[in-house]
Parts: sequence; C-alpha cells; structure tokens
Amino acid sequence: MSIKQLKDINKDYLNQTIELVVLLSEVKVKTTKADKRYAEITIQDASKMTEAKYWDYEENEAMIKNFKSHEIIRVKLQIGEYQGQLQLTIKEIKKAEDDSITIKNFIPTSSVEYESMEKGLKYFYDRVEAPHLKELLDKMIFCKEYYEKFCTYVAAKKVHHNFYHGLLQHTLEVLKFVNTVANTKKLSQKQIDRLIVMTMLHDWGKMMEYKALPDTGLTEEGIMIGHIFLGAHYTLSKIEEIQDFNIEDKLVVLNGILGHHGSLEFGSPVLPKSIEAQILHQADKMSGDIESILSFMNEDTDEDEAFTKKLWNMGTEYYKK
Ligand SMILES: [Fe+2]
Ligand SMILES: [Fe+2]
Repeated sequence: MSIKQLKDINKDYLNQTIELVVLLSEVKVKTTKADKRYAEITIQDASKMTEAKYWDYEENEAMIKNFKSHEIIRVKLQIGEYQGQLQLTIKEIKKAEDDSITIKNFIPTSSVEYESMEKGLKYFYDRVEAPHLKELLDKMIFCKEYYEKFCTYVAAKKVHHNFYHGLLQHTLEVLKFVNTVANTKKLSQKQIDRLIVMTMLHDWGKMMEYKALPDTGLTEEGIMIGHIFLGAHYTLSKIEEIQDFNIEDKLVVLNGILGHHGSLEFGSPVLPKSIEAQILHQADKMSGDIESILSFMNEDTDEDEAFTKKLWNMGTEYYKK
C-alpha cells in the first residue's frame, strides 16, 4: 500500500521517505540546545492533523516566512521514531503548484451526509409546539444570520467533532439521545419542548468560541468568555425580544445551557436544576466521550498492541481486539 494520506503513515514505513501534498497550518520556531533554530510545522489533510520537525529552518527561513497562512505545500517526509512514537521530519518543502487543489480538500468533514443532518434538525424543530420557543429557535438558528454558520461549524478544537459540520453533527446526536430518554421516561410535551430547545442551543456559543476552519483554535471571545456564557447571553437577549416568553421557560432554558457541562469544575457556573437540564448534560457527555474514544481508536494504527495508549480525557486505555 502506498501512503496517500497522513493517516496512512504507520510503523510499517519506518525509515522511508514519502511525498505528500498537505496544508500548512502552523509554524512554531524553536531552538535546540546547540542554539540552532528549527521549526515544528503543523500539517494537515482531510484525514489528520500532525506535526513534523524541520531542522533546516534557519537556511530556509525566508521561503517559509513567504508562505501565506494555510499555504498548500508539497513535502518530503522522513518517517522515523523517537521514544517509541512516530516522528516525521521534513526533508524538503515547497509550494504545491497544482491549482486544482483548494483548501477545502484538506479540511476534515463530517462523515454523515449533510442533507440527512439538515433533515434531522428540521425534524426536531417541528417537534417543538410552543410558539415562543419556536420563535427563539428561529432567531438563533433558523435565520439568515446563523443557519449556515451553525450547520458548518466545528464543535471542538481537539477531542471530539473537530471537523466541518461538527457542531451540527454533535447537536443532532445529542438531540437523538435526549429524545430517547424523553420517550422512555414519557416526559410531557412542555418538558420535551424545553429539552429540544436547550439541546439545540447548548453549544451555540461555539460559533463564537472557535475560529472558522481552516483556522483552528479559540477566538479572543472564546478565551475570555467561553461558549457557555456566550450561548446563554445571546439566548437571553433574543428571549427579551420575544413577547409572552414566560419566566419559567426562560429560567429552565438558560439553566440548561449554563449547566450543560454538569459541574462547576468543568466550567458550568450552575448545576443542572431541572430534569431536562440533567438529561441534556448526560446526553452531551455521552456524545463527546464516545466520539473521542472512537476517533482515538481510529487513529491508532499500531496493530501489534491490544490496547490503545491512554486517552487523557477518559483516563484509561481501550481494548482494540
Ligand atoms: Fe459545551
Ligand atoms: Fe455539547
């Protein structure tokens, strides 16, 4: 098998040099103990984002600095090993000269079909009966200003759903989970309305917390304020524009958004105080945890090992056989 994508690189190819077209996402200049400058370059394609060392940085500094951010480049990579981990070293780097390749080719995209996700979102919107709650969704998602953004944004920086349409996929997944609980526990229509609305809005603030792809990482608003407060703040300001929005629904929906991380140490300023909010929190946690385990196992290409390495957010390794 030849290597076509970054995710194909594994220990079978040790000491080989391969050539790939990738997107350059970040250059970090560092200094060795011998005072020589080198670069740690983050490269990505649709399959994976990874780092490679570039020891010849000093000699080629001008060329690297000339690259625009998100330049499409052709690299020769040597596949090596350092302390038991694969290490990539850039042997040659240059601008890719193929105009038919665009940045979109290098952005990881949700594997779920977009149209079916849109339909799913509409299905849950239709299940909401109370007009004032529907109006809130109209103002925050189903409108010109936010709909496209909501449907294309990432849901996380690393860990889970960090791809094009990630926020939509994650939101939909949580909607399906909460819906199962709502049906099994026979919640009332009033509770179902509130649950769907708070679920759709729970991570809405991520559209402001994260930069838009292909940029990755947090915005200044994200670092200073975070998606929990941002989501609650915008929700409150939209609620105030809606006539006849009752105080009980307002409190329950806002508490659901503010409490969805479930505990103060995970960034929620208040605990979930309604049954709807607790269901949302548990469903949200399940969606994030399961996705992070699955993608971690997918990235693990070491077939000799029975277990993955330890997944930091879960505190354990996973059995692969
Ligand atoms: Fe969240
Ligand atoms: Fe979430």
